[in-house]
Amino acid sequence: MKALVLFYSYGGNTRSVAEMIAKRIGADIAEIKTVKPYEGTYNEVVAQGKREVESNFKPAIMPVEADFDKYDTVVFGTPVWWYTYAPAVSSFFDSYSLKGKRVFAFATNGGWLGKTLDNIKHVCKDSDVEKGINIKFNGNKLVTPISDVEKWADDIIK
Ligand SMILES: Cc1cc2nc3c(=O)[nH]c(=O)nc-3n(C[C@H](O)[C@H](O)[C@H](O)COP(=O)(O)O)c2cc1C
Repeated sequence: MKALVLFYSYGGNTRSVAEMIAKRIGADIAEIKTVKPYEGTYNEVVAQGKREVESNFKPAIMPVEADFDKYDTVVFGTPVWWYTYAPAVSSFFDSYSLKGKRVFAFATNGGWLGKTLDNIKHVCKDSDVEKGINIKFNGNKLVTPISDVEKWADDIIK
């Protein structure tokens, strides 16, 4: 069976890592997208994100274009929003289940991972959640050594 790389990305960092991993391990790729794009300046989105995380708001998302039955392994990427996964990811787990699959999560962030990986483990309680990875960025520049990400990705298909 094939692996699926599934990600949400607001600013592009998580997308770039998702695309790199999918290419490296020969996985398919699918994106979680909000129906309504986040608008305004970066700081406005940071403030909106805080309100959404604090109120557990779940934005409407587009149907995910993937046939989940085809995959036994999902590599799941999210940015960290206020110390957890992004609200669009909450929305995803309200409508979809990765039950019975191996899940490898990665979380891109600016240095404050918070409970993101633990919370993914919690929301995927019926999945086999394997070791995740914290991927740091400074703005749009990768800080975590690329070799760490590559090694983590290679272990998925070993
Ligand atoms: C709403 C919002 C909240 C954020 N909260 C955090 C945080 O709690 N910890 C952190 O290290 N970075 C935080 N960041 C930075 C992002 O996690 C980081 O830039 C990430 O790589 C963005 O991924 P993306 O470009 O795929 O959206 C936040 C960014 C936004 C927009």
